[in-house]
Amino acid sequence: MKNQCSIRGIVQQLLQHKKELIFGNFIAILATLLVVTIPLFIPIMVDELLLGKDHHFISFISEHIWQTDTKGYVLGILVFILLLRVLSTLLSIVQTKIFVSISKNITFRMREALLRHLKRVSLKEYEMMRVGAVTSKLVTDVETIDGFVSSTISKLIVAVLILIFSAVVLLWIHWKLALFILITNPIVVLFTVKLSRNIGKLKKEENKAVEMFQSALTETLELFHQIRAANKEEYFFKQSMLKAKELKEHSVNYGYKSDAAIKFSYLVFLAGYEVFRAVSILAVAYSDLSVGLMLAIFSYLWVMVSPTQDIINFQYVFATAKAACKRINTVFEMEQEPLVEQTNNPFEGIQSIGLEVKDLSFSYLENKPILENINMKIGKASKVAIVGASGSGKTTLANILVGFYPLDEGEIFYGDVSNRDLKLSTIRENIHLILQHPKLFNDTMRFNLTLGNSYRDEQIKEALHIAQLDDVVERLDKGLDTLVGKDGIKLSGGQRQRVAIARMVLSNPKVVIFDESTSALDVHTEVKLFEALHDFLSEKTVITIAHRLSTIKGAEFIYVLEDGHVVDSGSPKELLTKDESYFSQML
Ligand SMILES: Nc1ncnc2c1ncn2[C@@H]1O[C@H](COP(=O)(O)OP(=O)(O)OP(=O)(O)O)[C@@H](O)[C@H]1O
Ligand SMILES: [Mg+2]
Repeated sequence: MKNQCSIRGIVQQLLQHKKELIFGNFIAILATLLVVTIPLFIPIMVDELLLGKDHHFISFISEHIWQTDTKGYVLGILVFILLLRVLSTLLSIVQTKIFVSISKNITFRMREALLRHLKRVSLKEYEMMRVGAVTSKLVTDVETIDGFVSSTISKLIVAVLILIFSAVVLLWIHWKLALFILITNPIVVLFTVKLSRNIGKLKKEENKAVEMFQSALTETLELFHQIRAANKEEYFFKQSMLKAKELKEHSVNYGYKSDAAIKFSYLVFLAGYEVFRAVSILAVAYSDLSVGLMLAIFSYLWVMVSPTQDIINFQYVFATAKAACKRINTVFEMEQEPLVEQTNNPFEGIQSIGLEVKDLSFSYLENKPILENINMKIGKASKVAIVGASGSGKTTLANILVGFYPLDEGEIFYGDVSNRDLKLSTIRENIHLILQHPKLFNDTMRFNLTLGNSYRDEQIKEALHIAQLDDVVERLDKGLDTLVGKDGIKLSGGQRQRVAIARMVLSNPKVVIFDESTSALDVHTEVKLFEALHDFLSEKTVITIAHRLSTIKGAEFIYVLEDGHVVDSGSPKELLTKDESYFSQML
């Protein structure tokens, strides 16, 4: 089933915590029952003790439990009520703990599902992704859902129960008055439902403003170096400030309007309360309602305030949660890499493998083909080069060969297995693409080489040696444990490229694709590097993409790409004689 955020889904998840939910609500009900019975002591104290009316309760106590004077009874009732309150508070702490862990569990699982979805998101989607926008959904919107879940499960049932309990007590005390209260109450609630609709919209706008601010800020900070180099701090920070200002405006809008809506609803409730009070006094004057019972009714009206408010708030929280879900779903809707059932692994148990590209076509945008009808045959352990002008599609082809982008048409055979029958992870495990601008983690040199896999020290040493990095690492203050800084800023461009090559050596793939991977090296170091790599690569299939003739001169076969088409191919010798002009440009 597709992952999605929906209120229904949240309820289903809640039901998975049935036991805790029932237990939590049981405790919550107990905690409330303990306090909602307190107003019932008012008629006892006022009518029986103060006004000396029928002593039903007091005479029962004096007969069966304890005989004392008015002072004693008042003190006794006081101690009893305080006990009830303490017990109720303790129970409500336990209840909060249960409900908080349920709601945090649900939001954690939502974040987990989002992360799992992002883990497999297709590169095409990733390239268009605004990092700040996605993070704001994982943080702010999930938080909104959390508010909804915790307030729903901890308050809704209890609120409804208190209202029911109070209604029953009110009906018992004075059914006419109670009916009047109970009929007018829903009108208040209905009135607030209408208000809540607009609040949901405002919340959505506020969260969107958070997203805009966060993505502007993330981008500015990520590109800080370039922004400073271009002297553009003013412009970019102004953008972030503008977004911060928009956020402020939306927050003010949501903040005071939602508060106004709640207050307005509350005002309607209070107005109702004043009316009930007046009516109750009339009831004492013109019917048999005692003063003590009237005071008890007043207390119950107050008891009903907070659950009524909770129910009113619930509508707002519900509306904001729905809006948050909608935004979260945009992450779930991001396209993912296809899942492939793999029965045969052509890379297993062999030293090297051949590749065959058949009628491959690809476009980033619809109707704008970048590669068309590409056919290539790359033999086992062969050394092939792909050349072509900038923008001809070489990098795109390399990315397709390692499964970063899905093919629109055609097929790629790895050995004799089509890409359609291969897991992308299997392809990437065995085919290593080294980029022109490798990305490094802001971590140690060791982590950047191993990416968390465990290798023996000799293996790392050997890889460093092949990648011409041993001197470089030796000169670092803490050797392999030196932090390389954000994006590997402490290393030169050529050193970063060599780190990527050492990474490849360690991962020991069957096929290696160099995409301008040595472009930042001087020709002398490049020659030394390829000499050192010679033995390591001898059994591997190697595809080299380069502009410099020196990089590809060892190739056995060359494909020439132009505007997404293979326009020529052959051995270097053949091509040099046929199309000297092109290669002379490269020199
Ligand atoms: N992620 C992308 N989304 C949309 N279009 C892209 C994307 N990447 C590349 N392109 C376009 O595809 C075309 C081929 O780009 P590609 O990077 O494959 O060229 P290249 O041959 O590697 O060039 P260079 O020699 O400069 O590295 C270019 O016109 C480029 O604008
Ligand atoms: Mg390129």
